[in-house]
Amino acid sequence: MCGIVAYVGERTAYPILIKGLQRLEYRGYDSAGIALANGGIRVYKCKGRVKDLQALARDKEVGGSIGMGHTRWATHGEPSDANAHPHASERGIFHVVHNGIIENHAHLRRELVRRGYTFRSETDTEVLANLIEDTYLEQNVSAELAVRLALTRVVGAYGLVILCDREPGKLLAARKGSPLVIGVGEGEYFLASDAMPIIEYTDRVIYMNDEEVAVITPSALDLKDLYNDVKTPEIKTIKLSIANADKGEFPHFMLKEIHEQPFSVTDTFRGRVAADGDKIVLGGILDVMPRLVEARRVIIVACGTSWHAALVGEYLLEEYARVPVEVEYASEFRYRDPIVGEGDLVIAISQSGETADTLAAIRRVKGTGATCLGICNVAGSSISRETEAGVYTRAGIEIGVASTKAFTSQITVLAMMAFLLGSKRRVLDAAEYRALVSELTRVPEMIATVLEQEGRIKEIAELYKESPNALFLGRGILFPVALEGALKLKEISYIHAEGYPAAEMKHGPIALVDERMPVFAIATSDKLYDKTAGNIQEVKARGGKVIAIATRGNEEIRGLADQVIEIPPCHVALSPLLAVVPLQLFAYHVAVARGCNVDQPRNLAKSVTVE
Ligand code: F6R
Repeated sequence: MCGIVAYVGERTAYPILIKGLQRLEYRGYDSAGIALANGGIRVYKCKGRVKDLQALARDKEVGGSIGMGHTRWATHGEPSDANAHPHASERGIFHVVHNGIIENHAHLRRELVRRGYTFRSETDTEVLANLIEDTYLEQNVSAELAVRLALTRVVGAYGLVILCDREPGKLLAARKGSPLVIGVGEGEYFLASDAMPIIEYTDRVIYMNDEEVAVITPSALDLKDLYNDVKTPEIKTIKLSIANADKGEFPHFMLKEIHEQPFSVTDTFRGRVAADGDKIVLGGILDVMPRLVEARRVIIVACGTSWHAALVGEYLLEEYARVPVEVEYASEFRYRDPIVGEGDLVIAISQSGETADTLAAIRRVKGTGATCLGICNVAGSSISRETEAGVYTRAGIEIGVASTKAFTSQITVLAMMAFLLGSKRRVLDAAEYRALVSELTRVPEMIATVLEQEGRIKEIAELYKESPNALFLGRGILFPVALEGALKLKEISYIHAEGYPAAEMKHGPIALVDERMPVFAIATSDKLYDKTAGNIQEVKARGGKVIAIATRGNEEIRGLADQVIEIPPCHVALSPLLAVVPLQLFAYHVAVARGCNVDQPRNLAKSVTVE
């Protein structure tokens, strides 16, 4: 949510900032802006995309080797030129870019207005800029101290980069709740909301911690906490390939990421599953394994697509490891008074590792005695750093705002955990364990065969692209896949869609069914197939159109459904990994046919770092 990039060094900052903003555009894309320090601070900003900012800056002075940029996802104030970042303080002494929400902004604004400050935008960020300036002038302190003192008065979340006109040659940065990564070069530093804009310049990074303030010049980095205690920066080496950050031959990141799934799932289990299929080793949780094996209960917290993966995890862990599982919306869990303690295992699932609610949920259980694990995609992210142990999904960078490959990699990790715990808890005997592990290694080739049906799925998308509503039905382990199919369709094509357990349809949603209502029925050949086939007949009897996701070889279903998309026969435990792929492709092709911006759907942003 909102992207920040900044540079200080010898090079010209402008092209680095523009490229960085392009790489961060998936985090927010309603306005963009930059500030360049070059004998005074120049600001260019506008409503719209980074390309609009480039057009604005064309033929303007864009020199200078210190600068910062921002791409916005609006929280306070509509997308507009005035609300775009950077924001200047009243006298222009400070310029600020911000990701996060200042919760006590209204109170601070009133106080500043009383002190004579005027405001040009509706943003909470301008409040920060003025608060820092007021502290700087009133207390006659350095820019660094003004920032630290001002931030002790702030309630909320921030990732901030600040330029001070009176102290040229340096960047100031601060973090609480919203991520900031510092890239360490030779005589230069980079700053960004995530590593994406940095990786083509350096692989050495420092993840800022909450309540840290950095003062950065081309030759030095000073890190302190808000209370003036000096911190030692911990430099880490990251392994991210810039190739992943480009669309390659695909028109959209989402399509590229859907097609990457045979490889991303392989990367998730590579080196963790023995070649002969007889065991799983998850290095990130080895140290806590005795506690996992003994756990009396598992609680999984997550949001959105990751929450759907968690629901699949519930089936897997209960069925194959026989441990009770509760799945919680992180946003609800964090504000309850949950009964959690010794013997409980709390798992946070998050692609970005930065989702504010999921992070708050794990902080909620700290100190309760529960063991806390993370399943994250982004290495070094806040959740991965704040959990005791965890497993990276290794899906590679996911840029499409609609999550696809992260989902299948999350399920792959959950399956490995369930099978491993099932074996250690002696729920699975050696033969069952081996069979499941070996089936898992076949999943990538099976996903590849589902992808081969893209042409047919595109034709089906053409048939239903004008439908105002859609229903997705599934049972058992495939019910969360129905939820995920509905979420994908609504977020990128803006068609209203609902996912239901197939049997629940009769308790209400069936009233919606008519000849304009496409109903996706996930009807694979498992023990619940006959029940789902009955639900299909109920839809057909009311004139609904049924698109079935069925197991190859099921001829009967052709007589029931209007269209059939086949997936290869596979063990039910792993069927979500196959059944979700046609639904991702359907949502993608409907959105393209409707002329929607697939990678940057309206109102959404990847990585929801605010509540
Ligand atoms: C949907 C989507 C979101 C995320 C949710 C959680 O396509 O991407 O629903 O799944 O915002 O994000 P993470 O997994 O980063 O915590």
